[in-house]
Amino acid sequence: MDELAIFGGQPVFSKPLKRYNSIGNEEVNAATEVIKSGALSPFLGDWKDIPNVGSFYGGPNVQKFEKSIKSYFDVEYAITVNSWTSGLICAVGAIGVEPGDEVIVSPWTMCATATAIVHWCAIPVFADIEEETFNLDPKSIKNNITEHTRAIMVPDIFGHPANIREIKKIADEHNLILISDTAQAPAAKEYNSFAGTDAHIGGFSFNYHKHIQTGEGGVLITNDPIYAERMQLIRNHGEAVVEGKGVKDISNMIGYNFRMGEIEAAIGIEQLKKLDSLIYNRINIANRLTSELSKLDGIKTPIIRDGYTHSFYVYGIVYDQKATGVSRDKIFKALKAEGAPVVDCYANLHLYPMYQQKIAYGKKGFPWNSEIYKGNVSYEKGICPVAEKLNDESFLKIPLCDYEFASDDVDSLIHAFKKVWSNLEVLNTTNI
Ligand SMILES: Cc1ncc(COP(=O)(O)O)c(C=O)c1O
Repeated sequence: MDELAIFGGQPVFSKPLKRYNSIGNEEVNAATEVIKSGALSPFLGDWKDIPNVGSFYGGPNVQKFEKSIKSYFDVEYAITVNSWTSGLICAVGAIGVEPGDEVIVSPWTMCATATAIVHWCAIPVFADIEEETFNLDPKSIKNNITEHTRAIMVPDIFGHPANIREIKKIADEHNLILISDTAQAPAAKEYNSFAGTDAHIGGFSFNYHKHIQTGEGGVLITNDPIYAERMQLIRNHGEAVVEGKGVKDISNMIGYNFRMGEIEAAIGIEQLKKLDSLIYNRINIANRLTSELSKLDGIKTPIIRDGYTHSFYVYGIVYDQKATGVSRDKIFKALKAEGAPVVDCYANLHLYPMYQQKIAYGKKGFPWNSEIYKGNVSYEKGICPVAEKLNDESFLKIPLCDYEFASDDVDSLIHAFKKVWSNLEVLNTTNI
């Protein structure tokens, strides 16, 4: 039995893993072409096209990238943005939330999913998640609907789509709008539809950590012409454009500059061509991990529900310490000492200081403690027991998004887990 690195043995990983990098010559050439053209962003905050100057809808690469996205995801509209955070802000504004409306959201997502709601002075209400997929639990969504609920914001976390069929039924019953935050699950499928396409609005992030990237960037997708136009307006100085464009409903048409540049769009066009093969690689890595790690006591490897596919942004493990007698924290420390790329937590957004103190705009508690909000949301510890227990006791993740995971690295990772598991007895009896 090899001595664990945490007790002075040789670590399994002798050098740091190589960072995931999907950028190749195709992207370098495409970006170079744009730079040589000098037209780095011919967007105009004017709804008319002005030849040789620009367009409200962006430059040629932006429009071409949007066309490729529409065709790939088979949707009517694709609207690129300078980040998916901006995209989420556009989406929440476009559906016409009123200040003080409640929007149900998951605590297990990146903070921007919920911040986009606060941005419009609406109130995030955190429903609990399912332990199996880490996505919103439809039962908990139902329990959190009030007379103030306007929409449900549904992340497809770690690459496994949420239970959109059930969630859609609930949304339809209560006349709620559905927004999918599919940042982490591009090309994952639910019953032959791409994740994100079954909601009123969906979309993806193209930040540096995502399956495909443009540095910073994102795209909104929808089949609804009204939401599409409203998102285009919020993206691009809407308040200055509505009059010329003859827009009647000017609510939430506070426009920003959320526009994607031409260099990013040119890179995105090349990246999208690689998406299928990049996801195929991820699935192979995940399958190899599952075939070995599922043999270890106390480990629940990621499930893929019938009718779904997983794009494995993250490989999420649920660890049951009752099966081994060794705490998750000890296992985590031992794996880290072996150099294994594991992380022992994700997010519990409701416990962030903004929600705990209900302080966002100014110091007086707006929008929670104000006339506009008639509800009674709680952010107390305990409101999302499944999410909280995962973070406190049982979750481990392998961030497939961050490293290349060459074949040898996958072998080493499996070896690191097996080495730790063959030392459970020692870990159980020793303080670390
Ligand atoms: C689920 C989720 N939502 C939103 C975002 C925000 O995306 P961006 O970084 O493109 O603004 C991210 C980014 O990590 C994410 O993972």
